[in-house]
Amino acid sequence: MDARSAILPDAVAIRALIDAHTSDGTLLPRSLPELYENIRDFVVVEDDGVVVGCGALHLYGEHLAEIRSIAVMPEARGWGAGRLLVRALLRESLRQQVSCVCVFTRIPGFFAPFGFVVTHETLPDKLYKDCRRCARRHACDEIAMIRGPLPETEVAPRLAGIRRPIVAAGGGL
Ligand SMILES: CC(C)(COP(=O)(O)OP(=O)(O)OC[C@H]1O[C@@H](n2cnc3c(N)ncnc32)[C@H](O)[C@@H]1OP(=O)(O)O)[C@@H](O)C(=O)NCCC(=O)NCCS
Repeated sequence: MDARSAILPDAVAIRALIDAHTSDGTLLPRSLPELYENIRDFVVVEDDGVVVGCGALHLYGEHLAEIRSIAVMPEARGWGAGRLLVRALLRESLRQQVSCVCVFTRIPGFFAPFGFVVTHETLPDKLYKDCRRCARRHACDEIAMIRGPLPETEVAPRLAGIRRPIVAAGGGL
């Protein structure tokens, strides 16, 4: 198994992986046009030419990036694909010289070994626009984790009417 940067022909497989985890609010749905537009955010893991896992690094700026849309086919779990994805996304964050990587998750135990720690702070530029389309937006149970110093700067304007949750945010990666 290997992790590699995603290319446009991977978009359909990525959508299928994400779709399988949206009904329970684990991941946010991503449309095909959205995936094509953001395909450079994604890495995939292939096993014998089949895409068995995907994940994305969304860049907010040098101060912050977010790991999201991580999913591995149920049949391929436990083989190390999830680890390959996180490592590849963290390598990309280093290449981009991002100082802090965040993730919003219900499985903190999966991310802790990579150096992520739980934070109760709100994150500059983690815009809660995504929350608006999350089925769990009124009962968010995700845990915010960061790897690296909490950013102090903010580059994007806040969205009117979107309040930042105190403990967790996101509502699907
Ligand atoms: C989470 C997920 C990506 C893990 O993928 P995977 O390929 O099974 O993970 P790996 O085989 O690389 O496991 C790496 C390590 O994480 C651990 N791990 C796997 N799933 C875990 C979980 N749900 N909670 C805590 N630890 C987990 C493994 O035991 C392994 O630990 P080890 O190094 O001590 O053996 C996969 O279970 C998945 O797609 N889940 C559904 C979607 C999801 O929850 N995505 C994350 C949203 S934040």
